[in-house]
Amino acid sequence: MTEIIDFARQTNDLDAFWLPFTPNRAFKRAPRLIARAKGMHYFTPDGRAVLDGLAGLWCTNAGHNRDPIVAAISRQAEELDYAAAFHFSHPKAFELASRVAALAPGDLNRVFFCNSGSEAVDTALKIALAYHNVRGEGGRTRLIGRERGYHGVGFGGISVGGIVNNRKTFGTLLTGVDHLPATYSREHQAFTKGEPEWGGHLADELERIVALHGPSTIAAVIVEPMAGSTGVLPPPKNYLQKLRAICDRHGILLIFDEVITGFGRLGHAFAAERYGVTPDLLCFAKGITSGAVPMGGVIAREGLYDAFMRGPEHVIELFHGYTYSAHPLACAAGIAALDLYRDENLFERARALEPRYADAAMALEGLPGVLDIRTAGLSAGIDLAARADGPGERGYEAMERAFQDEDLVIRITGDTLAIAPPLIVSEAQIGEIFDKVARVIKAVM
Ligand SMILES: Cc1ncc(COP(=O)(O)O)c(C=O)c1O
Repeated sequence: MTEIIDFARQTNDLDAFWLPFTPNRAFKRAPRLIARAKGMHYFTPDGRAVLDGLAGLWCTNAGHNRDPIVAAISRQAEELDYAAAFHFSHPKAFELASRVAALAPGDLNRVFFCNSGSEAVDTALKIALAYHNVRGEGGRTRLIGRERGYHGVGFGGISVGGIVNNRKTFGTLLTGVDHLPATYSREHQAFTKGEPEWGGHLADELERIVALHGPSTIAAVIVEPMAGSTGVLPPPKNYLQKLRAICDRHGILLIFDEVITGFGRLGHAFAAERYGVTPDLLCFAKGITSGAVPMGGVIAREGLYDAFMRGPEHVIELFHGYTYSAHPLACAAGIAALDLYRDENLFERARALEPRYADAAMALEGLPGVLDIRTAGLSAGIDLAARADGPGERGYEAMERAFQDEDLVIRITGDTLAIAPPLIVSEAQIGEIFDKVARVIKAVM
């Protein structure tokens, strides 16, 4: 307790920091502070070990503060802090791009770096628009997202995203955007492990949207292969295959937002591999550095990149980029993280653990107030019944109790709990996590 007070004194007070996606007043009344981390655990300022049931924020896939990543970042900081990102580069940018391209399926071989998932999404949408433009199809300006989609918080991302609270207070957003229906139906899919049987037909809605606007006006469709942020919604069987076929039929680019699903969450380097569907553009972030340094990016099909490589050679082909695109520290962390994923077979490990994980999550079926449980790879979404007086209140209390009473970090979206631990989680820890979640659920009913 004393140390918490000391910590507060060191930081002076809690007023200045405006926390992201957090109810600030509630947080500042009872802060949840984390001082350090190792492997599967966080440690609070007073030394309490807290099990990380969320891999940071779906990002520390190799676990926290892994020695090889820490060493790589520290070596890099000594050697090269920064090199101009425009007109210049540094060797590790090329090394990491090659490594990412080698992991990605098919001819997804050209990697554009940025610093977050939101930037990755805006980058992919811009590349899609520019691609049609350079090919003389500049009339293709419409973007299609999906209800319940989360694509970060840039204006592009919230425009194609499908979460009302992320959209409704921010003006008119991008124009010319339409949305596919969400793929979730509790009535047809409740308590499904993995990909639901019902719902593949919802991809046909894309044909309706294409017919409404005319195919020659549509640039791209963007979806998360598995929607993570709105509560773990795996794609219905055959849904992504159908989207791919419809996009092909009409010359529309397909973008997968793999910010959460990339780097092992679903037991493969990318969900594209799990589902056997190759998009034209693939957004990644989070797991690329196992959360250690901010980084995001877009992987493009070779032919798509080639379409830009025309005109005089001294002229920039794509007027887009960030000061910190391929930042040396991020590249060093990325290479070390990919080494760890490979050397410890972490994607295969996630795949092997999936049945045990799904069983442990589904064992909570039947607890009071549990309306649905969904799983895919090492992720689970659990819908709790909302309290009559306030949607989201029960979920918030569950997150709070998990941290304070059970020494566990979980994620909430409204009254939905999401559990997605680092891929190094042991079988015993999977049991421990869901035992803790069960006690939390009973406590908040
Ligand atoms: C699918 C998806 N896209 C984009 C983002 C945004 O990433 P960031 O918060 O790094 O901007 C997220 C974050 O959770 C995400 O899940």
